[in-house]
Amino acid sequence: MENLNIIGKTVFVGDAPSLERVAFVCLGSNEVGSGEMVKIQFDKSGKSVVAAARVTSGLEQNPYETPQRTQVMDALGISSSEIDEDSLGRFKVYYADLLEFVYHDGSMGRPSGIVPSGSPVSAPDEDFVRKVLGMPLPNEADSLNLATLGNSDNISVTLSANKTLPRHILVVGTTGSGKSYFVGKAVEEVSRIGIPVIIVDIHGEYIKETEELKGTVLRPGVNLRIRLDSLEESEVLGMLPITNELHTNIAARAFSDLKMSGRPFGVREYENKVREVAIDIGSTKGTQTIMEARIRSLNTIKILGDGIKWDAILSKGAVIDVDCRDLTRTYVIMLVGAMARELYNLRKSGKIPPLVLALDEAHIFLPASGSSGASFVLGEIVRMGRHAPIGAIISTQHPSDIDQATAKITNTRFIFAIEPSELGSLGGLLGDMPPETVNYLTHMEQGECLLVGNRETIRHSVTTKISKRKTTPGGDTPRMIQNG
Ligand SMILES: Nc1ncnc2c1ncn2[C@@H]1O[C@H](COP(=O)(O)OP(=O)(O)O)[C@@H](O)[C@H]1O
Ligand SMILES: [Mg+2]
Repeated sequence: MENLNIIGKTVFVGDAPSLERVAFVCLGSNEVGSGEMVKIQFDKSGKSVVAAARVTSGLEQNPYETPQRTQVMDALGISSSEIDEDSLGRFKVYYADLLEFVYHDGSMGRPSGIVPSGSPVSAPDEDFVRKVLGMPLPNEADSLNLATLGNSDNISVTLSANKTLPRHILVVGTTGSGKSYFVGKAVEEVSRIGIPVIIVDIHGEYIKETEELKGTVLRPGVNLRIRLDSLEESEVLGMLPITNELHTNIAARAFSDLKMSGRPFGVREYENKVREVAIDIGSTKGTQTIMEARIRSLNTIKILGDGIKWDAILSKGAVIDVDCRDLTRTYVIMLVGAMARELYNLRKSGKIPPLVLALDEAHIFLPASGSSGASFVLGEIVRMGRHAPIGAIISTQHPSDIDQATAKITNTRFIFAIEPSELGSLGGLLGDMPPETVNYLTHMEQGECLLVGNRETIRHSVTTKISKRKTTPGGDTPRMIQNG
């Protein structure tokens, strides 16, 4: 048997060991916490097996502090500290769920059989954790090194970018729990391994990071304009100062005719098309003139213009910050929808490389109820991930505020501290996390989170601590986004 740093032994209590779990006692001053992994060695049919188990709960047995004894000692003036810490009969029992069995030949499989009582329990080493969780080595070409294991700073939690990003990352947690810090860390790592990343930056929180990573800050209306043909008909009609039914019909038909042509177009082409349609349906000269003027009013919308050459700026590992601080909510949604449409089409035709779209405050673009053009195209990107990889990092404070179908598709989830009232909305997002540990989510510390994956990304849920960033978090004082 391997020489182990033994911290405890499995024991027989009323309901353990069973096929699903073990109970163990920690020896000496050893302790373990909720969600931590332990390894247990035992023999099965004469061959050695190592079980990986995850701690779900613990309780102390202390016959010296029963209600009666405590009361008597108090009456006699004996303080508890006079009783030796290591008094016999005083111990801590932990429960742990079995995760995997690792066999003597290195193969691994679902636990099958009961782990005998009296088996040694030890703290896992990095190789063992990596094997059980299915994590790549930190120095592999596509490894994203984002965190360390909750209970041991020296075990890194690594995800394979190729397996994780095309199926998207969801980040949830209450305000101040560390979501944006994490998104910034993910941006660093994605860029480091050579994948370009575009950040939709609502509060200007990623500008410093982008500058430090020698990236590009795009300011809508200044160095970022979207093409008219990247918008949806309803978005364009919503911007036109027209109410009259005839005018609306002319504007709509001209727009859809141009869209159908499949060619890029701007305000000038739209104006010409509108004139054509107006003449075609026999409208008066007056109507034509009014319509032309209305269409020209689109020239005053600063985010509209010639578009941007995404292929030129999406170089290897490029970081692109879209600074949305000065946009109203309506324009942010329109801009993100148009950008997503342009990127999606370019990706499908292979004109740009795989990239990551980081969407902090995602409830703005992917609302649970009602739908915007942005939510439609983003939903499409998330669903089509495997075929035209644009990886999305979707971060939000309230998981119930974003489209549930989209949230559930995400393969990898970082769940930070959450309000007790929000726990219910995590249903279906928690993978194989046991209920006891789920409650722990309400009192996690800043930067601490539960990582949930699947067999491809990270086989079992674990608690992690986000690693320190190289770039400066935060930045400019956030401006409130105005409602528009
Ligand atoms: N892992 C971490 N290490 C160090 N500081 C952190 C960490 N996570 C968050 N912080 C700090 O805590 C504050 C709130 O974090 P932030 O990511 O902005 O929260 P959220 O986006 O969830 O509201 C920020 O000042 C941030 O720099
Ligand atoms: Mg934030």
